[in-house]
Amino acid sequence: MPTYDVELIDIVKDFESGGSRVRAVDKVSVKIADGEFFALLGPSGCGKTTTLRLIAGFEQPTAGQVLIRGIAMEGIPAYHRPVNTVFQDYALFPHMTVEQNIMFGLQMEGVGKKEARKRAQEALDMVRLPDIGARKPQQLSGGQQQRVALARALVKRPAVLLLDEPLGALDLKLRVNMQYELKALQRDVGITFIYVTHDQEEAITMADRIAVMKDGEMLQVGAPREIYEHPGTRFVADFIGETNFIPADLIERAPDGSGAVRLSDETVIKAQLSKTLESSSGPVTMAIRPERVGIAKVGDSIDSADSDQTVLDARLVDSQYIGTDTRYTARIADDINLIVRVQNTSEREFSHFTIGQPVKVYWRQSSTTVLDR
Ligand SMILES: Nc1ncnc2c1ncn2[C@@H]1O[C@H](COP(=O)(O)OP(=O)(O)O)[C@@H](O)[C@H]1O
Ligand SMILES: [Mg+2]
Repeated sequence: MPTYDVELIDIVKDFESGGSRVRAVDKVSVKIADGEFFALLGPSGCGKTTTLRLIAGFEQPTAGQVLIRGIAMEGIPAYHRPVNTVFQDYALFPHMTVEQNIMFGLQMEGVGKKEARKRAQEALDMVRLPDIGARKPQQLSGGQQQRVALARALVKRPAVLLLDEPLGALDLKLRVNMQYELKALQRDVGITFIYVTHDQEEAITMADRIAVMKDGEMLQVGAPREIYEHPGTRFVADFIGETNFIPADLIERAPDGSGAVRLSDETVIKAQLSKTLESSSGPVTMAIRPERVGIAKVGDSIDSADSDQTVLDARLVDSQYIGTDTRYTARIADDINLIVRVQNTSEREFSHFTIGQPVKVYWRQSSTTVLDR
């Protein structure tokens, strides 16, 4: 049997607040592998921080079990667990130098001063701030403080590093840079990262796997690509990236996962069914990503040799230039607005169409996902 770094088994966490009960975590079960970069993603209040705190030992589960490296954590206090946490607000000691901040935890564990100093320097090298050991936290920029907080957590060589929105306080450009650095660092040190964020782009670019949470539940766990390409529910499809949701009726459901739906204007099209689709007929939603839809003038040739291709008549109702892309709105099936995103790889794209003109929109069947309404 493989051992996982972190295993959550049927975890429930209820809070009492003002006489009423809040279920912050609702029957969560997940296994996180050694060396994995695992993201907990979801809107504010969905239970991400509570899940992290249960792993860290700052909270005790109402029901269920936390295992770390195969060992049940019940009764084991936070400071004896092989994990460390990086908080969004860094929580550095202001009166200590950077070096003292990093050495502090080691010295509490009884590591000698010489050894602690050596390891602090290694940790600072690791986060690429080799020369700032003598400074105080307030003499550092936000990005530097974030790295020091990271160095302080890494210096104890935890099996698992828990990070709670660690880049949330940084401005956009720095945040994007830090995303790449953190990912590279994680790869180098090989420590398991459990990373909380409400930012879907951050989760997609950094994580090996993402758990999408809502109301305390883990709705879907999978690789970024799987979550993006094959969302199991409307919530997941909507939370991650932009999606067109087209109301339709399911009229055919084949055992191989393909099927057919009917749009409001009676057009029947082939579509790919979600693996978790419950409906076998009747009202459903067909999801399709804007970048998977093509747009062409009537009469322009579309590669229709592809039998997997759906081509529909539409009318262009809006066109928005957004730098790298053009975002078109095309009306299909009477009154459904379909967003189409086309990369501006040449001058041609943006000037190609006029608002109001009839157009063709097209996509591959495999780009669609039929979800429960
Ligand atoms: N100590 C607490 N007492 C009462 N309710 C709490 C406590 N901590 C969290 N909650 C509630 O639990 C839910 C999940 O919170 P949290 O895990 O912080 O969400 P997230 O980190 O995803 O924003 C929220 O409804 C929150 O108000
Ligand atoms: Mg939180």
